Amino acid sequence: MCSRILITSGPTIEPIDPVRFLSNRSSGQTGFHLAAEAGRRRLGPVTFITGPTVFLPDDVELIQVESAQEMRAAVNEHFPASDVTIMAAAVSDYRSLKYYPEKLKKRGERLTLELAKNPDILLELGRAKRRGQTLVGFAAETEDIFANAQRKLEAKNLDLLVLNEISAENPAFGMVENQVYLVSADGVRKLEKMSKALVAARVWDEILALRGRNG
Ligand code: C5P
Repeated sequence: MCSRILITSGPTIEPIDPVRFLSNRSSGQTGFHLAAEAGRRRLGPVTFITGPTVFLPDDVELIQVESAQEMRAAVNEHFPASDVTIMAAAVSDYRSLKYYPEKLKKRGERLTLELAKNPDILLELGRAKRRGQTLVGFAAETEDIFANAQRKLEAKNLDLLVLNEISAENPAFGMVENQVYLVSADGVRKLEKMSKALVAARVWDEILALRGRNG
């Protein structure tokens, strides 16, 4: 039994002007299945904070946001009361520095858009984490995947990192199946390629085992 669960999901979208935005290929399926699996196992009430996606689970407190800054505000409000927090959202690393209130006009052959870094929500959560809280992050890497994962696990003070190796064989984003590694202080475990629903079940197995071991 976990008591309170916080899951983020989907992409964030970062507005440029009234009709355009920056985003990524996250479908929101992994976060959806993590929430559905928590419901099936009756692990506790789930707060589900998601960017735009069609994958919306039932029986959760649903909070829909668009930008990283909106997601950060919603997450910060709910994190203190949560026992397990899973950041499955693909938060945009950058947003347009400026929001153009009028639709940008087509002009020359080139257009330069200046970007500003978004807050790293998970990094902030890692710093605020209290004893008894379990924090899970995701990573999508294309090179030096294990070294980068280990660095993230430590830098973000995570209990578990779900590592996606992004390659032609495993695009991960938008797909129904995924092949991931579970990275924790205990080491790295490779899971076979499986549906995202099964990945979610294995991630919960690992979270519950970690929480069991840590009392
Ligand atoms: O550092 P990287 O972006 O690879 O880390 C991915 C993890 O960090 C994911 O769990 C994602 O939800 C989270 N993240 C975040 N805020 C950002 C970027 C990523 O919380 N601005």
